[in-house]
Amino acid sequence: MNSIIQCILRAVIAGCLLITTATAHAQLKIEITGVGSNFLPIAVAAFRDESAAPQQISEIIRADLARSGRFSNIHAGMAPIAETNTVDFGSWRAKGADALVTGSVAHLANGHYEVRFRLYDTVKQQDLSGLALISSASELRLSAHKIADYIYQKLLGERGIFATRLSYVAHTGGQYQLQRADSDGQNARTVLTSSEPIISPAWSPHGTQVAYVSFEHKKPVIYVQDLLSEQRTAVSNQKGSNSAPAWSPDGNQLAVALSLTGNTQIYSINANGTDLRRLSNSRSIDTEPRFSADGHSIYFTSDRGGAPQIYRMSVQGEATAGAAQRITFKGSENTSPRLSPDGKLLAYISRVNGAFKLYVQEISTGEAIALTDSDSDESPSFSPNSKYILYATRIEQRGVLAAVSTDGRTRQILSIKDGNIREPSWGPFTE
Ligand SMILES: *[C@@H]1O[C@H](CO)[C@@H](O)[C@H](O)[C@H]1NC(C)=O
Repeated sequence: MNSIIQCILRAVIAGCLLITTATAHAQLKIEITGVGSNFLPIAVAAFRDESAAPQQISEIIRADLARSGRFSNIHAGMAPIAETNTVDFGSWRAKGADALVTGSVAHLANGHYEVRFRLYDTVKQQDLSGLALISSASELRLSAHKIADYIYQKLLGERGIFATRLSYVAHTGGQYQLQRADSDGQNARTVLTSSEPIISPAWSPHGTQVAYVSFEHKKPVIYVQDLLSEQRTAVSNQKGSNSAPAWSPDGNQLAVALSLTGNTQIYSINANGTDLRRLSNSRSIDTEPRFSADGHSIYFTSDRGGAPQIYRMSVQGEATAGAAQRITFKGSENTSPRLSPDGKLLAYISRVNGAFKLYVQEISTGEAIALTDSDSDESPSFSPNSKYILYATRIEQRGVLAAVSTDGRTRQILSIKDGNIREPSWGPFTE
């Protein structure tokens, strides 16, 4: 039976559900609302023969670099400059460019495209090398993002996140769609459609699976779905509510919040749902678990001290390794802990004078700062290089996603037409 018809039939009985990889109709739009102050001026020339390719490679690279808040694009002129051309460093310095990118695109006999580029430091008059990337037409944007990542790493000494992916839940026309998109919001694809809410999507550390909570059976159940095969498994469908899945750094386990015994507590399970173990041990509500970057601790939200605050326990659990320690002290309520992949920062949502604001706290010092001027922030998610935090917020009554640099200087807003988007999760580095 056609899966759409099957779904319509099933919708009469339980929630309607469709697993599909069709291109999403609602494309993400990005606006940059703040800009960094520490720019590196770079000229990205038009690539030779890119105008005959389906994607304008140099344009995608320029847009990536601008969005990062770390570069300013110096106009390189209209004439394409190939990676094989010799470079007059003096003239690029005179235009104010500290770095230059040149390149070309070739359509190969097998239908694929080869993109070559070269990066120069015009100040040091150095050739910083380049790459040749071969891809299908549909993966040309990814090649451009990989070039932007190469530039970011060579010039700033940190890994770039342009070739990564995001996921989020779009709520439009009474339907919930779990979608994934490129880091620039392009190529949005629907992973799952349901008439009931889908929440808390989380990418597996290897980027091949996503865990999420679905209400399609009228109660929260945790699923893990393979992004390639689209196969999914209900990994936690215990009595009561099953919520807040978080992956261990090695991808073998999930920490989850279950109300199995009445009050919600933190448990761990294998990623296939076996070996359920209780970790937190309180009479309060313990929820929103997250593994630390080294996998040794679990941060979570608990109201054991009266109001919700963030605590940390050993991954062995409280019964074995001792009671959790409180981590947040500022603000009347602090929830939604997220750890940066580099192990240095804790992001969370702090209730301040009735508003919900994204904060970031240095783990070593406990020092915390507010990153936004909005008042309905939720669901923070770190970029894999730990330099940005994606979160959901509201602007003019609409749910949008925003990304802010961890120093608070650069902000981007991602929105879709005619709908709300929430529950963002930033995927890992792609190899
Ligand atoms: C589930 O995963 C665990 C740990 O990876 C493994 O030992 C076990 O055999 C798996 N069980 C099933 C039913 O796949």
